[in-house]
Amino acid sequence: MLYEFARPFLFALDAETAHDLTLASLRTAQALHLPVACTVPSARPVRVMGLEFPNRIGLAAGLDKNGECIEGLAALGFGHIEIGTVTPRPQPGNPKPRLFRLPERQAIINRMGFNNHGVDALVANVRRSAFQGILGINIGKNFDTPIERAVDDYLACLRKVYAHASYVTVNVSSPNTKNLRQLQGESELDGLLGPLKREQAALAQQHGRHVPLALKIAPDLDEAQLKVIADALRRHRIDAAIATNTTLSREGVEHLAHADEAGGLSGAPVFGKATTVLGALSRHLGSEIPLIGVGGVMDGQSARAKLEAGAQLVQLYTGLIYRGPALVKEAIEATRDA
Ligand SMILES: Cc1cc2nc3c(=O)[nH]c(=O)nc-3n(C[C@H](O)[C@H](O)[C@H](O)COP(=O)(O)O)c2cc1C
Repeated sequence: MLYEFARPFLFALDAETAHDLTLASLRTAQALHLPVACTVPSARPVRVMGLEFPNRIGLAAGLDKNGECIEGLAALGFGHIEIGTVTPRPQPGNPKPRLFRLPERQAIINRMGFNNHGVDALVANVRRSAFQGILGINIGKNFDTPIERAVDDYLACLRKVYAHASYVTVNVSSPNTKNLRQLQGESELDGLLGPLKREQAALAQQHGRHVPLALKIAPDLDEAQLKVIADALRRHRIDAAIATNTTLSREGVEHLAHADEAGGLSGAPVFGKATTVLGALSRHLGSEIPLIGVGGVMDGQSARAKLEAGAQLVQLYTGLIYRGPALVKEAIEATRDA
């Protein structure tokens, strides 16, 4: 309700200013312990990756890159919050403007480029937070780390976030870091997932707790590439897959203002591709590896469709910008009896 009043004001601002202002308000509400007015529908808890999720709807990575608003966002009703993508060292990301709304299609194009304060700052924020729920931490590489050495960045982040995460997401699917998506190839996945799994086993020994690893993939993959990924997930015994990140395609938004901006497209237009990729992974993997469906969840029906395509959990980001907290409630209601 409140969001219906706030939205025209926010949409009158440049997209990144509106984003920063919203996060700042949530941070203030969080610091002052103000109740964020949301009644969260009850749901049956669900066990995925060995963790108990209070409902199936989570916040996708990229909104709270530094883990500054975890409690404020959790108060919207999400059953899990994924923060990041974080990189070993702080980096500014791409020059502004780098975030664009395409309101006619309830979509966003972004080329943020992993702007973040670095893994140490994120860990400090998580330590300060009183959040008790399921926290995913999404990790990536710095833009100036050569792609052949990407594994070093992922390992460095994994070691630092391990003790603070419920699960860790390995992001190889952002279109805004040069060559990152190459890491979805067969030999590249072996070079990345092998060392990460070995490090996970060592850290589990050290901390006495197994923290699951999830791989987040792109929607722009053909059937053969998806088979390679499914085989790698199985071979390396990865705990979950997240499908999908944003798309490079402009199908469905051609001729709209900003459609030619470089970056990843999210929101309603990515729903079809993301759900097709999710369904294909599900056919390859059966019930062997749990799947998290993300991309174009804009209402209860699209959230439910992710479960029908094979997901156990659902995440959203762009829908929250267009619909506000009402979407979280609607999505929980649509998926709670699944
Ligand atoms: C502005 C913006 C920034 C994003 N940043 C990240 C990121 O840092 N890491 C990541 O894994 N995904 C990132 N994403 C992708 C989302 O997590 C999600 O996978 C994608 O937007 C599709 O879901 P949606 O249609 O619900 O937004 C970002 C998306 C947007 C719109």
